[in-house]
Amino acid sequence: MKRILVAVDGSDSSLKAARMAADIALRFGAKLTLVHVVPKLLLPPDVYGLTIAEVEKEHRAYADRLLEKAVESIEEPSVEVDTAVLYGAPAEAIAETAAATDVGMIVIGSRGHGAVARMFLGSVSDRLVHISPKPVLVVH
Ligand SMILES: Nc1ncnc2c1ncn2[C@@H]1O[C@H](COP(=O)(O)OP(=O)(O)O)[C@@H](O)[C@H]1O
Ligand SMILES: [Mg+2]
Repeated sequence: MKRILVAVDGSDSSLKAARMAADIALRFGAKLTLVHVVPKLLLPPDVYGLTIAEVEKEHRAYADRLLEKAVESIEEPSVEVDTAVLYGAPAEAIAETAAATDVGMIVIGSRGHGAVARMFLGSVSDRLVHISPKPVLVVH
């Protein structure tokens, strides 16, 4: 296991997933890559009174802050951690990135920000489990 991919959206569930991934990485001597996917815009940017470039810049800054907080939440100083911002449909973008040969597994939270208590999995974790080319650990 060379590299473990962790999908983070800033939710408690994803930070818990990141800590478990770090624990596993420590035991395997693996590296961690934390990824956050910036979804496609739901509305044209002029609805927000902004240009596409401005909206993309805001999204990028938001993603960078979110990833930085996730890195800080990992308490394994001996694990090498890097980050990547991806764009598009979250599950698809994560699955595509996980196809890289050095990725051994993906760790993801069971739910995210849109948590509905009666749901077993969120939409991203549910879809990823179905389409992932690599093993997926879903952290409850
Ligand atoms: N945009 C995203 N980028 C990276 N990971 C994500 C993203 N959205 C969700 N995830 C991952 O998927 C997990 C489950 O979230 P999700 O399926 O979106 O649940 P919900 O439907 O409750 O929001 C999160 O804990 C996180 O690990
Ligand atoms: Mg979500």
